[in-house]
This record gives sequence, structure tokens and C-alpha cells, in this order.
Amino acid sequence: FHVDWDLMTAEKAGFDHFMLKEIHEQPKAYRDTMLGRISDDGRSVELPELKMTPEQLKAINRVHIVACGTALHAGLVGKNVIESLVRVPVETDVASEYRYRSPIITPDTLVIVVSQSGETADTLAALREAQRCGARVLAITNVVGSSVAREADDVIITLAGPEIAVASTKAYSSQLIAFFLFGLYWAQTVGSQDEAAIAQVLAAMQALPEQVEKILGQSETIKEVAESISHHSSLFFIGRGVDYAVAMEGSLKLKEISYIHSEAYAAGELKHGTLALIEEGTPVIGLLTQEDLYEKMLSNIKETKARGAHVLGIVNEGHEQEVAKSVDRFFAIPRTLPLLTPALSVIPLQLLSYYASLALGHDVDKPRNLAKSVTVE
Ligand code: AGP
Repeated sequence: FHVDWDLMTAEKAGFDHFMLKEIHEQPKAYRDTMLGRISDDGRSVELPELKMTPEQLKAINRVHIVACGTALHAGLVGKNVIESLVRVPVETDVASEYRYRSPIITPDTLVIVVSQSGETADTLAALREAQRCGARVLAITNVVGSSVAREADDVIITLAGPEIAVASTKAYSSQLIAFFLFGLYWAQTVGSQDEAAIAQVLAAMQALPEQVEKILGQSETIKEVAESISHHSSLFFIGRGVDYAVAMEGSLKLKEISYIHSEAYAAGELKHGTLALIEEGTPVIGLLTQEDLYEKMLSNIKETKARGAHVLGIVNEGHEQEVAKSVDRFFAIPRTLPLLTPALSVIPLQLLSYYASLALGHDVDKPRNLAKSVTVE
């Protein structure tokens, strides 16, 4: 009796690729990252790992979030979280730009660096530059003992577990959970949100893992769309508000592993030039999860449809019948608070890139020209 098994196969736990396994590990990654950080009564956040005192946090009046690639896209969501919950202005920056642009760092600036590996050279250099200029640095990282974790003043560890696939999935979404927790902790510390509002967000966060499981159960729909877009050489991801940040992540993921060119666009900007690229059959992925921007997004989608675009709409449950009139296909995600939607809406986009790469026969886990951790400048 012979079993043809190797260590790598065993580690993939029955999945064909690490990326697919890691996509499916997100419910656990969410639960683990929240574990022990929400009070037993579900009404407040506990982050005992932070060394900064409540007084130090209260003194912060501006934030710079600095990272690379997917981690930066998590930072864009983090900006929305902090600005919505705490009303402190947040700038986001590419680490390789930040370190060379003489950033304006005042004593009341908090610099947040985000890095799965904690070893990205540009992010580490940005951290050092921020500290040199006198800023306090908070790191959100997945690796305990990494350079970023060791050098930052405060650290929030994401408990996504080891991420092997070059394309980041569960590390990104766990970074979102870390931002939700930190934003709520900050809000409760300064009193910018009342206890009931914080409890409401925490309850919605605790429902996320099950909601992700539900999305994963509908992977087949996304697989079909992925196979059809794999024949195209270029496509667009569009969204408004925080949906635009998620669109950027969806676009990066697709480029990274399927090698299909795509662009993420703030939907309202299309008509300022990019619409010229839409022609008969151009695939457009439109995110419509922000209820207050829903109608605006629909009209942007109609602008693309009028030029022949083939649109997949990502909507909240409840909008299916109505959106079906304006798009070619739709995918509904479970309802959550608008602030938290990126933790759900990114899942179909991860699956889309995975299945497109698979359809094209590429090496999903090890895309060409890329390394998991970029430790050189
Ligand atoms: C993600 O899919 C990419 N491989 C890449 O953008 C990555 O997020 C970036 O290099 C940053 O890595 P880090 O989180 O380890 O710092």
C-alpha cells in the first residue's frame, strides 16, 4: 500500500494551493485576532499589549499609516476606520515614498506601520525614519519577533498564522480586524463614540467569521466569473469610499497572480479619462457595499454599461433583485456595518484572482518575479 504524499501536500490540508487554504482560514484568523481583545460583556476593547498610556493616546492629533502593497491597502481601510470612529486626520503613504519625502512629523503624530512579515525593507526604513523624527510608532504585524515588531514602540500582532502563498489574503483581512480593534480602543479611550455604539460594532465584528464562511460556500459563482474574465487582457475594479480601497486590493491581487492587467478606480473619476478605455465586453467589477453611495455607484456602473462593459456587481444582501437590472452578474455579501464591509467584500475578490490564475494555468502560490517578503530596497 503506497500513499503518494509529501510534506507540502500535507501542509496544504487537502487544498490544491496554499492561497486557497489561506483564503479558507480567514474565519479562524478573524476569531484568533479578536480573541482576548474584546471584554467578556462585549462592550469594550482590551489591548493590554499597548505600552502607550491613555494620556499618550489622547494627545495624538494626526496619524500616518505607512506600508507597502497589500498592507498599504489594509492601511487605506484603517484610515477610514480611524477617521470615522475618532475623527483624527489620517494620511496613508507608500513606505518607499515616505522615507524619502521628509514627512511632516509633529510630536502629536502617531505613525502606524503595517507589515505581514515585519521584514519589508522599505517599511522598516520608514519606521526608523519616523522614530528619528520623534514619532511614536505602532506596528501591526503577523510575525512576533520580526524586525518591525522588535523596533516599534507598540505592537498589535495579527493572529493569521503563517502565510505561505506570495499573494496575501488572511494577513490582509486580519490587519483589517486589527484596525477595527485599535480604532474602537482609541474611540473608547477618548470618548468619541459611546459605549452602545462600540458594543454594536463589536457585535457585528463577532458575526464576521460566520459571514465569511457563508461567502466561501458560494465560491462556485465567483469561479465561473473568474473563468470568463481570464480571457480578457484588461479590466477595471471600481468603487467609492472604502469600496475604492477594497477595489485597489482586488486589482493588485488579480495582477499579482493572474498577470491580467487591471486598474482600480474611484468610480466618480472614470469620466475624467478612464471611461475612454471601456469597450464592448470590457469586464468591470463594481463594489456597491456603501449604502449611502449606492445610487451614485449605480449611475457610474450604468456609465460603463452604456459603453459595452460587462459588469459584476458586489452588493449587500437585499439588493439582489434591484441590482440585477443594472449589472450582468452580481454577488451578494451578508450585511454588516458599512465600516466593516471590507472584511467581507474582499473575499470574493480574492477568490476571483485565485480562480483566474488557476484557469490560466499559472503558479498560484509563487507568481513570477515576486517574493513573499521584500527585504531589499
Ligand atoms: C501581497 O499580495 C503582496 N505580495 C505584497 O504587496 C505585500 O503585501 C507587500 O510586499 C508587503 O509585505 P509585508 O506585509 O510583509 O510588509
